[in-house]
Amino acid sequence: MARVLEHVATVGDAPSCGDVDARELCRSMRESVPEHGTDIESLLGPLFDEWVPRSFGTPHPGYLAFIPGGGLFPSALADLIADTTNRFTGVWQAAPALVQLEANVLDWIRDWMQFPETSRGLLTTGGSMANLTAVVCAREKLLGDDIGAGVIYTSSQVHLCVTKAARLAGIRAHRVRQLPVDAQFRMRIDGPGGLVETLAADRAAGSKPFLLVSSAGTTNTGAVDPLDRAADVAEAEGLWHHIDGAYGGFFHMVPELRPLLAGLSRADSLALDPHKGLFLPYGTGALLVRDGEDLRAAHADTAGYLPAPPDSEFYDPSQYGPELSRDFRGLRVWLPVKLYGAARLRAAVAEKRCLALHAAQRLADVPGLVMDAPPQLSLFAFHLTWPGASRAEENAATSALVERVTARGRVMITGCVVEMGAAPRRLARVCVLSFRTRAMHVDQAIEDISAEAAEILAAVRGSSA
Ligand SMILES: Cc1ncc(COP(=O)(O)O)c(C=O)c1O
Repeated sequence: MARVLEHVATVGDAPSCGDVDARELCRSMRESVPEHGTDIESLLGPLFDEWVPRSFGTPHPGYLAFIPGGGLFPSALADLIADTTNRFTGVWQAAPALVQLEANVLDWIRDWMQFPETSRGLLTTGGSMANLTAVVCAREKLLGDDIGAGVIYTSSQVHLCVTKAARLAGIRAHRVRQLPVDAQFRMRIDGPGGLVETLAADRAAGSKPFLLVSSAGTTNTGAVDPLDRAADVAEAEGLWHHIDGAYGGFFHMVPELRPLLAGLSRADSLALDPHKGLFLPYGTGALLVRDGEDLRAAHADTAGYLPAPPDSEFYDPSQYGPELSRDFRGLRVWLPVKLYGAARLRAAVAEKRCLALHAAQRLADVPGLVMDAPPQLSLFAFHLTWPGASRAEENAATSALVERVTARGRVMITGCVVEMGAAPRRLARVCVLSFRTRAMHVDQAIEDISAEAAEILAAVRGSSA
């Protein structure tokens, strides 16, 4: 506990990204199984002093990379309690009151997302598992045994876990349509190559469209697909509409921000990541399914050695998901929400968006910096340019910008590659979502990005003079 507390207290003092060039380190760590025990101090020493620091600084206040996680400490406390008491929460009968806490958490999430009372949900280990469960659920309901003809529609910007989920659910890659996007990286629904046109062509060819997956915040640029229009098409065409809200879903907690996600609450299912937008430690995802019966029908099962599932008034996780034995992950959501209250969490989510808007506004004025994707939620993406630059030169300069900003050690940013025009474009991106990120850290990001951009552009000009 002393080590943990010291770590939390000093997390912002370390570099924003540790030295992850660690092939030699990893080779040196290989070990045979210990026949006898070891004292704890000699185990914790290298763990905290050498191995933890050799990593991305995910809990660092300057972590603006990928989609930041959080790691609210009460969740760690909840895990300690859950693992110490080690009660079995796979079936309701084994720990009814503890499972009820999990059901409460799912009801809270349902209300934040404005899903109806018919909904049921599942806490998963992350967004990938929530998306997979949704794909299986839609497949079960709309394809039954006729899996081969089923077609899934999504955009070129969808998270890789969705195409992976399709594969795992038996939908082959040539039956997943990754539709083009508009200038703001949102799924094209109407017009050439869009959803409506592609659907019609597939139907004419005898395929069986069954699932539309839109994104409430893509990982690359934070784009929110036109969820309302997507819902209209799904409704008219009899498709299951699943929304991947792993990044953006929790912005719907904040009533003033709901218009940014208009249509979200009309989905048939919604994947969320409390370990992103609710600031919890990695290992907590969630799925909501509008008609809870659909989720149950895909999973319900029991065995002669198990207690009979309860009547529908009570929630039994094993009837709504693939797992039986599982960690008691409800507590790591329940405890922080009870301790802090929803109002504080909502305010923190709203603050992250304000910080991103502020940063994007300032960076848009930096000479040579092009804002390709202004923030819709709390993520924006940009690249460097200068007169006469080729796409390859711009890409190299933008990659250098990402590396050099992170090497300064105060903030960590990452990039992505998107198709733009004829050639791939490398973008730098900033995502503000950690509960530890405050105005001073965003100002540091603005300073470091501006300074490195100026140096890179000066060098380019110098070499072409
Ligand atoms: C939009 C989106 N969907 C899904 C995922 C996958 O979630 P997880 O990493 O929790 O499995 C991510 C992860 O970053 C994401 O950003």
